[in-house]
Amino acid sequence: MATLAFNFEEIAPRELKPDLLELDGISRAAVEAHYKLYQGYVNKRNEILGRLAEVDLGSANQVYSEIRALKVDLTFAIGGIKNHEIYFEHLGGDGAGPDGLIAHLITRDFGSVDDWRADLKATGMAARGWAWTAYDWDEGRLFNHIGDAQNTFPVWNATPLVALDVYEHAYFLDYQTDRASYIDAFFNNLDWSVVDDWAMRYQIPR
Ligand SMILES: [Fe+2]
Repeated sequence: MATLAFNFEEIAPRELKPDLLELDGISRAAVEAHYKLYQGYVNKRNEILGRLAEVDLGSANQVYSEIRALKVDLTFAIGGIKNHEIYFEHLGGDGAGPDGLIAHLITRDFGSVDDWRADLKATGMAARGWAWTAYDWDEGRLFNHIGDAQNTFPVWNATPLVALDVYEHAYFLDYQTDRASYIDAFFNNLDWSVVDDWAMRYQIPR
């Protein structure tokens, strides 16, 4: 039987850093429930790839609608993994900063850290799912992008460095509909040393 041509391995969720259970203004219960959602995206990604590997290309035209459904759902699952791995990894700090390369990039491309923060907060208020600060390798600059879901609307050849989750699941337990206060809490818990490490690891040019 002919099948899709790819190999894959199952992946496991990354462990939640203990610091994430002691955030300032984002409760342990909210983080634990949120982490379960992330685990769900990992499981979904593994399940979908397993099902795709079983697709029989010889089984008439309906195979394409099956491939379509699986591959679209795969983008949602993978987005859910990548977005949340950034989100969880760069929380757990005290919001002090930024310093180093990331401070230089933000100041260069937004004017000041305060201007960057205001821009990202506004983008997060306008979004349905995510706001990301990403470095665009073609334009050679940072920009705050908007996302409505795990798989909308990332752009090609851009590297996300900050991922602000504004899905209701991120804040409803602690803030009900007060998203603005949750976003302030997000900034207060950012670990800028993590973000700066990423900027250096990816060798983002000054
Ligand atoms: Fe989330």
